[in-house]
This record gives sequence, structure tokens and C-alpha cells, in this order.
Amino acid sequence: METVLILVDKILDNKEKYKQAVDILKNGGIVAFPTETVYGLGALATDERAVQEIFKAKGRPSDNPLIVHIGNKEDVSKYATGVTEDAEKLMTAYWPGPLTLVFDKIPGVIAANVTPGVETVGIRMPDHPVALELLRALDGPLAAPSANRSGKPSPTEAAHVYEDLKGQIPLILDGGQTGIGVESTVLDMTTNPPSILRPGGITQEMIEEIIGTVQAGSQVPGDEAPRSPGMKYMHYAPKAPLFVISPDETTIRGTVKMLQMEGKRVAIIGPDDLNIPEADWYLSVGPRNHNEVMAARLYGALRQCDMTEADIILAVETDLTGVGTAVMNRLMKAADGKRFI
Ligand code: TXA
Ligand code: MG
Repeated sequence: METVLILVDKILDNKEKYKQAVDILKNGGIVAFPTETVYGLGALATDERAVQEIFKAKGRPSDNPLIVHIGNKEDVSKYATGVTEDAEKLMTAYWPGPLTLVFDKIPGVIAANVTPGVETVGIRMPDHPVALELLRALDGPLAAPSANRSGKPSPTEAAHVYEDLKGQIPLILDGGQTGIGVESTVLDMTTNPPSILRPGGITQEMIEEIIGTVQAGSQVPGDEAPRSPGMKYMHYAPKAPLFVISPDETTIRGTVKMLQMEGKRVAIIGPDDLNIPEADWYLSVGPRNHNEVMAARLYGALRQCDMTEADIILAVETDLTGVGTAVMNRLMKAADGKRFI
């Protein structure tokens, strides 16, 4: 299969391009598209065979549920029950936006393989003009995981999708670089209080500002709420082993020299202002503790590591303010929990 990449800029009239995508989706095909977080790989969520194509193209374990993307807040009630007043408040505050809400599902509407093994459904309204226009033109729900091969970092640009899924999918809508760079926050509204299953673009503080205390899961891989099936898989793993390291210049330089004495070549993912001349590769992710910039650049940097000949990757940790919690959650996963001091 040939994979076509088409540019959907925000100025030109793109009707014809969306029609191409909608035709594919209505005929049981899958299409990659940008959201404000990462690129998604979409299928019509009511079409079980099309959804099956997503699992096949990604090599995704079939027991990991997909998020349903909608174009209007009101559509939630077509697919979910138990939409509480608190949920309504969150939707008013943060939709469209990077917040997935998990509700009890209405049986028999969304295809069974979108929500394998669970009685719930995760729903979000993405905040990206291309995603919203696609949903409007389709006039239906899109089941969409991140558009990467399973186990690779999520794609933050169309080229990443192409790299992973070339030959497996017919169409990628190229809307440029995504803004946020890490995936949406997944909040389970079926527990009391609601619980954060995955930290993301909407922080715990932002949620608590609207509805009061919520439960936050642990950041340690293997220790998360088992209710989010996706959390049990190792994710976002680059080829070389990755270790998280604290942002101390002397420690990092010492570690790099030690590793090099063992014959290893070292790539570092870190802030602009660290001076580590010994590093074989230095991939900058913005000023120190500027977590929004780091979130936007992190997955690209992990992918760049795969293009180096590094034997080991050291990723400099950031603080936990704002989206920093999500950034550190993804880094600890990529590291499979490993860290130097
Ligand atoms: O930002 C995002 O959320 C991106 C864009 C494309 O929207 N999507 C995304 O999807 O990250 P995916 O499939 O890569 O991650 C979805 C996560 C998984 O950890 C999955 O287990 C969890 O959400 N999830 C989905 N539905 C769920 C449900 N009903 N109950 C618990 N967890 C659920
Ligand atoms: Mg994913």
C-alpha cells in the first residue's frame, strides 16, 4: 500500500483533502491526523473491522482500549452514561483540549474492540483545527490511539508517522508539528473521587481547580492504577537503554566520562544551559524547567537518539511543575524505571 502525505494548512480551502480522508474512513480505512497533543491514527469508532486495522498497523496489543474522539461536547451522551455535573464542568473548562474522560459506556454503540475488556469508554474532544474539521466532515466518532508503531515514541510530526507506518496506512494529514507534544490526561470519572490514570496536558492542579480533590496515580512504571490497561506496557522506548539523571553538571560529566571509559558512546537529552562538552550527542529540549517546551520536544529528541550511534542515553530530569509530571512520567517509562543518581 502506498502511503500518501497531504499538507492541510490553515489558510487554503482544504475541502477536497478532507473529503479524501472521509471517503477512506467511511469505507473502513484508517487515516493519521494531527491533534494538539500528538498525531492520532483514526478509524470510524462504530466500525469494528476498521478499528481492527488500527491494531494491525500499530502492532498494538488487542486488550488496550482506544480513546474516542468527538467533534461536539454534546456527543458524549451518545456513547457514555454517568456524565456527572463535575464531568460537565471539566468539559466546559477544558474541551476542546488534552483531557480524556473515562465514563461507563452505553453498550452496542461504539465497536466492541475499541474498549476491549472494560465497561468504560474514554472520550475526548481534541483542540486542533485539522482534527476538528475532520470530525465535522466525518460526522461520526473517531477511535484513535497515537499514530506510532506500538512501543515507539508518539509522533509529534507527520514525518514520524510516515517513518513508523509507511506502507501500512493510505493517508496522513500533515498539519505540521503538534503543540503540546505529550498525550492527553486520562481521568477516570467512574471512581469517587475521580482518578488520574495518565498524567498529560491538563494537570492535576487544573482539574482540582474545577472539581476539587482527585486521586493521582504513581509515576513509577508497573505501579500505576491497573484500570488503565495501556499503562502496563513499556512505552516510548528508544533503541539504546535510557537512564534518567539529575540536572547536576558535575555528576553528569563524571557519569559520561565513566561510561566512555567502558567504551560506550553517550547521547544526552537535556536543557540548553547545561555544559557537557564530553557528550557524544547533545539533544536540547529547551531552557531548564521550561516544561511546556520540553514536552513539545521530548518525543522528537527520543526519536533523534535512534538516529545516533549512542550506546546509552542519559535524559536530564525536570521539575514536576505543570506538564512536568507528564514529561517525567513518559521519561521514566522510556527508561523502564532506570536512573543514575
Ligand atoms: O492525546 C492523546 O490522548 C492521543 C491523541 C491521538 O488523542 N491518544 C493517545 O491514545 O494517546 P493511546 O491509545 O496511545 O493512549 C490511550 C490511553 C491508554 O493508556 C489506554 O489504556 C487508556 O488511554 N484508555 C483508553 N480508554 C480507556 C478506558 N476506557 N479505561 C481506562 N483507560 C483507557
Ligand atoms: Mg500511544
